[in-house]
Amino acid sequence: MTYLALVPAAGSGSRMGALSGRALPKQYLPLAGQPMIRHALTTLCATPAIAHVFVVLAPDDAHWPAAAMATLGPKLHVLRCGGDTRAHSVANGLRAMAGVLGERMDIGNDWVLVHDAARPCLTVAMVENLIAEVGEDNAGGLLAVPVADTLKRADENGRVRQTVPRDGLWQAQTPQMFRHRLLLDALDFAPQVTDEASAIETLRLAPRLVAADASNLKVTYPLDLQLAEWILQNRGKPCR
Ligand code: CTP
Ligand code: MG
Repeated sequence: MTYLALVPAAGSGSRMGALSGRALPKQYLPLAGQPMIRHALTTLCATPAIAHVFVVLAPDDAHWPAAAMATLGPKLHVLRCGGDTRAHSVANGLRAMAGVLGERMDIGNDWVLVHDAARPCLTVAMVENLIAEVGEDNAGGLLAVPVADTLKRADENGRVRQTVPRDGLWQAQTPQMFRHRLLLDALDFAPQVTDEASAIETLRLAPRLVAADASNLKVTYPLDLQLAEWILQNRGKPCR
């Protein structure tokens, strides 16, 4: 039984670009001296339990910095099979990784940890905690944080229609880890989902929520890039 990582990186970062006017896809924006995507790939390649790390690029991606990535070592594999949605990119990547590994893979048992290229602040400790907490639970699991804010549902005029109780609500993060074949079956069954856990839920399985923290943020808007930069530069320093 093996742990594999799959990093979908075939998006364009439209919410980042629309606000900042940048043409470079967000996963390649400079962050703490490196293209953003290199941070998560470094963490996944440095996690001893993970045997291989697959990154899924758009087929016409002209920005992948091959030379800078070569230093991450032999665990890293590049797949140029991104699709038009995140779920398609992940499903295409699952098929392609099985093609690369061939008989070295046991698709019924091997675990795949899917992680956004746009979550650069992931740590090895977070990955190891997820793997330990999920254990052999066939429903898999994901990193997540309990919702802290009071939630409001808006009406069509931008006024509060309702306050939504936050009890029991969590924000899903990545990595999200599932057995390879189960995840591919789930994504084929429910290709419209926005994360892997939702696909698994359509099979009436209940993935385990593993508590993480807000530092594993997803970079979506320009301000998130500044927050991620601060987190990466100040990690390990005592909070004041
Ligand atoms: N992704 C992907 N294939 C797609 C769309 C998204 O592999 N067709 C990847 C992104 O590259 C990112 C992750 O899925 O690593 C999470 O998606 P998101 O944060 O939404 O990134 P984008 O889709 O690039 O951004 P936006 O939605 O603002 O356009
Ligand atoms: Mg998107």
